[in-house]
Amino acid sequence: MIPDSVHLCGGGVSVVLTPSPRAGPCLTYWGAALGPLDPSELAGLAELRRPGIPQSALDDPRYVSVLPTTGSGFTGTPAVEGWRPDGGSTAPSWTDWTADARGTQVVLGCHDVEAGLSARVELELTPTGVVRLRTTLTNTGPGDYVVNAVRTILPVDTAATELLDLTGRWCRERSPQRHRWQHGTWLRQTRHGRTGHDATLLMVAGTPGFSFSRGSVWGTHVAWSGDHTAYAERTPEGEVLLGGGELLGAGEVVLAGGGDYTTPWLVGVFADDGLDGLSARLHPWVRAAAPHPGGRRPVVLNTWEAAYFDQDQHRLTRLADAAADLGVERFVLDDGWFAGRRSDRAGLGDWIVDPDRYPEGLHPLVDHVVARGMEFGLWVEPEMVNVDSELARRHPDWLLRGRSRLPEEWRHQHVLDLQQPAAYAQVRDLLLGLLSEYPIRFLKWDHNRDLVDALHDGRPAVHGQTLAVYALMDELRSAHPQVEIESCASGGGRVDLEILTRTDRIWPSDTNDAVERQQIQRWTGLLVPPEMIGCHVGGPVAHTTGRTHRLRFRAATALLGHFGIEWDVSGLVPEESVELAAWVALHKQVRDLVCSGTVVHPEHPDPAVVVTGVVAPDRRRGVFVIAMVTATLTQAPTPVTLKGLDAEAAYTVRALGPVSDEPLIDLGTTWLDHGEVVVPGSVLMRSGLRLPATAPESAYVIEVLADSDLS
Ligand code: DGJ
Repeated sequence: MIPDSVHLCGGGVSVVLTPSPRAGPCLTYWGAALGPLDPSELAGLAELRRPGIPQSALDDPRYVSVLPTTGSGFTGTPAVEGWRPDGGSTAPSWTDWTADARGTQVVLGCHDVEAGLSARVELELTPTGVVRLRTTLTNTGPGDYVVNAVRTILPVDTAATELLDLTGRWCRERSPQRHRWQHGTWLRQTRHGRTGHDATLLMVAGTPGFSFSRGSVWGTHVAWSGDHTAYAERTPEGEVLLGGGELLGAGEVVLAGGGDYTTPWLVGVFADDGLDGLSARLHPWVRAAAPHPGGRRPVVLNTWEAAYFDQDQHRLTRLADAAADLGVERFVLDDGWFAGRRSDRAGLGDWIVDPDRYPEGLHPLVDHVVARGMEFGLWVEPEMVNVDSELARRHPDWLLRGRSRLPEEWRHQHVLDLQQPAAYAQVRDLLLGLLSEYPIRFLKWDHNRDLVDALHDGRPAVHGQTLAVYALMDELRSAHPQVEIESCASGGGRVDLEILTRTDRIWPSDTNDAVERQQIQRWTGLLVPPEMIGCHVGGPVAHTTGRTHRLRFRAATALLGHFGIEWDVSGLVPEESVELAAWVALHKQVRDLVCSGTVVHPEHPDPAVVVTGVVAPDRRRGVFVIAMVTATLTQAPTPVTLKGLDAEAAYTVRALGPVSDEPLIDLGTTWLDHGEVVVPGSVLMRSGLRLPATAPESAYVIEVLADSDLS
């Protein structure tokens, strides 16, 4: 039993641990800040939350500790599951709890001598009110202990009776799904060997009807880039929990005597003002933990949808010229530059520049890019191998497999077993060689297949492979700290907070279709700050859907992210160049705000109207993109109310962005035709502004500026 209660308080959030007679310390409260509590008040809190003894139950009160197992009578999903091949107790019953609380961190320890296990739970509350915890399990016994699962939990208020989580697929990542939360376990598991297009991202429990602006909400995220589980559990006994952890294969983690296993962080976030409140707590913390905090966000041109595998040095040089003329600051050479890579059937693993396409190496192209004032970035997929590659021919035993034959192919590729030291060293050295030879400032790090039937030394391989990828990124980063990395996995298949401690941005999806992007970016942004989400303007016809969109809609959709272009801009007509250059310039005007501001999603009754804004921390400036993603329900959209402003400040409101599209329908006359309007924030947030009747798949960009800031 811990001696005293512990109250962590920060960022408007309180987390309270209270002792229990037998189960150990319990997370008794997680929610809005309780204010300062002295020891007797904390004891009072614990007293008021003491459980009774119902009929047909254990004879002692049922407490749920931070690490509940059936050993203490808990009949929900246990925090620790495992077994000993040579027999022995499997359900730990923790004793000898210790607590070391320092500021907003606390480390709890406990043992089960008979089971031969000890555990350490680290819990901390960040300055913005994000809580995170993880568990280290140690085998203190003599023989092996096979870890089936170690899960971490956070209890939420019983008033949370609705659940929202995210799912998805290629080109439709992070689709929300929600339902009532009744008794039972809502279990999400991903077994892709990467975070997964369908990853939960956040499991959110909230009060009925919660939305971006309303309701009390509690969300958890499992910060892990391999197989993992996230769940929400409501038991007939009255427990209401969110939990998660790594999803281990049978025998994947076996602890020899003295060995230990640490779970991924379970990140928890609470807000009493809806989903935007969760992001407002998460984003500053994620920004501060990023490898390059402060958000340097050069405008990108990526060659993928402009050239695919059809790489030709002269063509790319022309593309670089066109990009530079538009104001692009970083030129990224995508897949297709290395030996043998004429299609997706060959070359992966051979990370040397294709001598046929680039007889002088990448130097002429890189030099040209740099001479035009741009940074150079390069696509790599270090974890993958094509059978048709020198690597596979020389080292067929380096490919991950679960049996004598290779696993099913996926995009004609296999996985390099990074737990083999020689395989790891080869790919590391090839990458280090590239980074030393060329002034590469950015790696687009791709991962284009699931890991299936993957064993290393006869055991499931995903856990070790995931740690090896982290180690590889860490080594490269420490050797070349100036190099930024993008996490890409067939679009948005590796988006999680552990990869984001090693990478600077994520590629949220392979679709550049602006209608799809409106939703994908909106939901990805629940967790990921906007400047870490790659948002590119594709060509007029979206390659993944065949939809045609006007430039205004495509560019406005990308504006409030890490802006880029993925389009063969060497063939633009002059009007397109002028308009695209104006959008690039506009992004440069707003990107400081994007990198530091608070993201808001003002709600609109018409599902066709999707509003996204970023507001400065001091609320004196905001930029809002108002998109009509389908035909509006009414002839013209009903007024749009903004959010996050200072009700009392006077704001000048104006539309931004080049206007070159011919309206498809009669717009009539609105305030937009009169230029600027000055009103207090209260008017913008309560009465709102009306936009012209407009065609579907169009967008407006509105800036609000507190009066005294006008130059
Ligand atoms: C998948 C990525 O998501 C794309 O952007 C592109 O880089 C291709 N791979 C290249 O093979």
